[in-house]
Amino acid sequence: MLVDTHCHILTEYYDNIDEIVQRAKDAGVGMIIVNGVNHQSNVEVLKLVSKYDIVYGALGIQPEEVGDYTEENLRFIEEHICDDKILAVGEIGLDYHYECDRKLQKELFKKQLEIAKKYHKPVIVHSRDCIQETYDILKNSGVQGIMHCYSGSVEMAKLFCKIGFLLGIGGISTFKNAFKVVDVIKNISLEYIVLETDSPYLTPEPYRGRQNEPANVRVILQKICDIKGLDYKKASDVTTGNVLRLFDK
Ligand code: NI
Repeated sequence: MLVDTHCHILTEYYDNIDEIVQRAKDAGVGMIIVNGVNHQSNVEVLKLVSKYDIVYGALGIQPEEVGDYTEENLRFIEEHICDDKILAVGEIGLDYHYECDRKLQKELFKKQLEIAKKYHKPVIVHSRDCIQETYDILKNSGVQGIMHCYSGSVEMAKLFCKIGFLLGIGGISTFKNAFKVVDVIKNISLEYIVLETDSPYLTPEPYRGRQNEPANVRVILQKICDIKGLDYKKASDVTTGNVLRLFDK
């Protein structure tokens, strides 16, 4: 079985979630982790995990939402983080690409890391244009997790692995100019790699231009196998094993 560790199959983007889940099953996906990004999507994640057997959830407020969240939204995450099929605090992190208040972003990130630590949950982390700052915060956080859509250097990747983080590899690995990610895939052991689609975004080749969906994790895995010269079934077992170990399943 395959796992999509990071996607957003929410009604905001899809009007056919039944079909999306079925197509994922048909493609050999046994677990889909839907990540919340704000209060509204966190509420929806709870509904999705109770409706679909292979859907699991992560609850979090992502950095772009830093201007809109309330303390009540954080309390909601805390109240539901131990619910059945909720695996992690995510999507959380830092994004310096946008002109959001960086101090507030760090505050929000740290508050959610505290929730993860308190309830012994892993985190799913978004980091854009600030990989060093993200590392510096995570290093002392006492939590483990997944670096979603990892886009840093090989050296940085090794540091994240050392502090208990797995690297989420997605559609970017199939793009023509993906030298950096390909370098990471080549140089990092499969024991530290997990698959993700980030649906509805980042559709892999050869499907670019269409809406992404969890069934496409098989394309990502095939790409990793091509780069590393691995057998598909074995690589599937290893990457899925990494996920199950992290989430204690
Ligand atoms: Ni995401």
